[in-house]
Amino acid sequence: MTRPSILVTRAVFPDVLDHLRQHFEVEANQADDAWSADELAQRLQGKAGAFTSGADPITAALLARCPGLKICANMAVGYNNFDVPAMTAAGVLATNAPDVLTETTADFGFALLMATARRVTESEHYLRAGKWTRWAYDMFSGCEVHGSTLGIIGMGRIGQGIAKRGALGFGMKVIYHNRSRLDDATEGQCRATYVGKEALLRTADHVVLVVPYSKESHHTIGAAELALMKPTATLVNIARGGIVDDAALAVALRDKRIAGAGLDVFEGEPKVHPDLLTVPNVVLTPHIASATVGTRRAMAMLAADNLIGYLVHGKPLTPLNPEVMA
Ligand code: GLV
Repeated sequence: MTRPSILVTRAVFPDVLDHLRQHFEVEANQADDAWSADELAQRLQGKAGAFTSGADPITAALLARCPGLKICANMAVGYNNFDVPAMTAAGVLATNAPDVLTETTADFGFALLMATARRVTESEHYLRAGKWTRWAYDMFSGCEVHGSTLGIIGMGRIGQGIAKRGALGFGMKVIYHNRSRLDDATEGQCRATYVGKEALLRTADHVVLVVPYSKESHHTIGAAELALMKPTATLVNIARGGIVDDAALAVALRDKRIAGAGLDVFEGEPKVHPDLLTVPNVVLTPHIASATVGTRRAMAMLAADNLIGYLVHGKPLTPLNPEVMA
């Protein structure tokens, strides 16, 4: 029996490729070349599966050119690079990589919150530039974290992980806003109280965004929302670029409308709005919230096991549109 062929669109752990090669003919991209949409479509000819990154757009136009494609397995929990309705219409299964990154990503959300509140990178740049010649009583004074109010927008698994860290580790009062309210038991475990979005923005000392990207969540935070926040508050975005209006945020940071921001994701990344690069009160990281060796390996293995699960055994692990299997 001929083995199915698959495409791995980006460089990945060599042992994950070995795992895939036990079941498939694998075309890999270990040189990590950037492929255009046209090149991606060409390379997908004759492939039954694709191991994709969260930056590979899987669109209706691409699917129309790849009639043999049966599954795209994203090595990311977010899947706004997938047009899921178009995939379903084309009979292509979509899978993502949830759960394995929850705690690691919640850790990083907290790291960005701490770095932003306590001005870690700003003060490091000052030190590295040789500007630290003497101590001063108000040097890089930041915002309190322990005992403050943490506002979380998007209370899925990662949001809940951040809530627990804040409530149990730092004695924070946790408020959250979400499309739907959590059940009482989950709210209790997270020590979190549901509030409206406006109340959250007005009250929180630290606002953390963990909401998935969609047309509806585009610019969840823009100039109007930033104007509601306390001038002493910080904003952290570990969700997706486009959840925040980055141009409006740069203005708010420049004018000290809010105290600071920590951003791991950007509109149009890997490009970063130039004004964000010039304001000092922002911590910037290149979309690395899930980046520990163990977690990235687990995400890659889950994407691989989704391909094997579906194409070899007919049972994917984390399908997003299981109706295509009916
Ligand atoms: C990272 O952003 C992911 O969605 O896994």
